[in-house]
Amino acid sequence: MKKLLIKNIGVLATPIGNTALAGEAQGAVKYIEDAFIYVEGGVIKAVGAAGDCAAASVATDPDVEVLDAEGCLVTPGLVDAHTHLVFGGWRQNELDQKLKGASYLDILAAGGGILSTVRATREADLDELAEKAEDVLIEMFGYGVTTCEAKSGYGLNLETELKQLEAVKLLSERNPVELVSTFMGAHAVPSEYKEKREDYINLLLEEMLPVISEKGLAEFCDVFCEAEVFTKEESLRILERAKELGLGAKIHTDEIFDIGGTEIAERVSAISAEHLIKCSDEGIGHLKNGNTVACLLPATSFYLGADYARAKDMIKAGVPVAIATDFNPGSCPVSNIQLAMNIGCLKYRMTPEEILTAVTLNGAAAIGRAGRIGSIEVGKQADIVVWAAPDLAYLCYRMGSNPVNFVIKKGIVYE
Ligand code: NIG
Ligand code: FE
Repeated sequence: MKKLLIKNIGVLATPIGNTALAGEAQGAVKYIEDAFIYVEGGVIKAVGAAGDCAAASVATDPDVEVLDAEGCLVTPGLVDAHTHLVFGGWRQNELDQKLKGASYLDILAAGGGILSTVRATREADLDELAEKAEDVLIEMFGYGVTTCEAKSGYGLNLETELKQLEAVKLLSERNPVELVSTFMGAHAVPSEYKEKREDYINLLLEEMLPVISEKGLAEFCDVFCEAEVFTKEESLRILERAKELGLGAKIHTDEIFDIGGTEIAERVSAISAEHLIKCSDEGIGHLKNGNTVACLLPATSFYLGADYARAKDMIKAGVPVAIATDFNPGSCPVSNIQLAMNIGCLKYRMTPEEILTAVTLNGAAAIGRAGRIGSIEVGKQADIVVWAAPDLAYLCYRMGSNPVNFVIKKGIVYE
């Protein structure tokens, strides 16, 4: 069994627990100075201050690989709980329209936006999709991401949605980053159903969801519940059907307008609700009642020039906040979760401790993994980042550089 000792950790910073944290607990990160971590078979077996006898005894075992953290910061591996990782093409051509003032929904209504990526994704074959996404996944891993959620939603027909989800499966078999799949056939109404949207909803309910569930290709189902996309009523029908078929519910909502989509999150006990830029006090109440993690996407606000979600109000109200990239070709072509951390800290006014919890334990909770990953504790999987950084504040402060030294996934060290 592979054994690993990480020694000489200047400061170990980790949230604690197996569930999402909100309120004061979101910022109550545990610090251990001059620490060590001991791992066997990919699982954390001991954590503590270097003076502990456990560290001293394993350090002399010749079978143990020793990694010297050289007095630096160590945190749990980062969890990117919201990405649209797999798609064909890019959309840099929209930049010009954006600069001339076209809004996100203007571009979509004109047949561009998501729908232009749908065309490119339908044209690409499985290997092309997987290889393109793999390049991004390698970047993400280099930024410290050890687990990543990936949504479909650029196929909008059964064949292409399956191709996207198959690509995620292929990548999870050959890449150290653990992938979690979400079916998002309700990302937009495809052009061919523009005049008969009810038929598309039926296709989702009666054909796409049952096949995807039967093939076990997705753990969650997400819906873009937004003005001009899917209504609250449509979103409810889709998510209820997904739950019947054994998928967990997620919802993109209240991003552009406050349409009150969190009411649907509460009705289906969604594991997470995403974006929430326009979420009202009442909406925050629904998140709390639904036991739903608010998965916030600050780099998307930045890229769209939009407002910033009310992260601090949510935390105060007892709603756990996760932060993710939302990596996608339109509203956020950003694969670097550290950038989301920087923007989250500065614009949401979240403390570095709240940010760490948002990208580790709360991110893990947003994808149903908080019992296994998201913190550095005995019994958890050894997903760890060794940073070229002296402390946690440094991560939120150094914008645009990448202070990762080593990424450890299931106890294996990658440089
Ligand atoms: O989460 N808001 C909806 N979906 C994506 C954008 C997808 C795209 O523009 O291609 C998002 O921002
Ligand atoms: Fe998204």
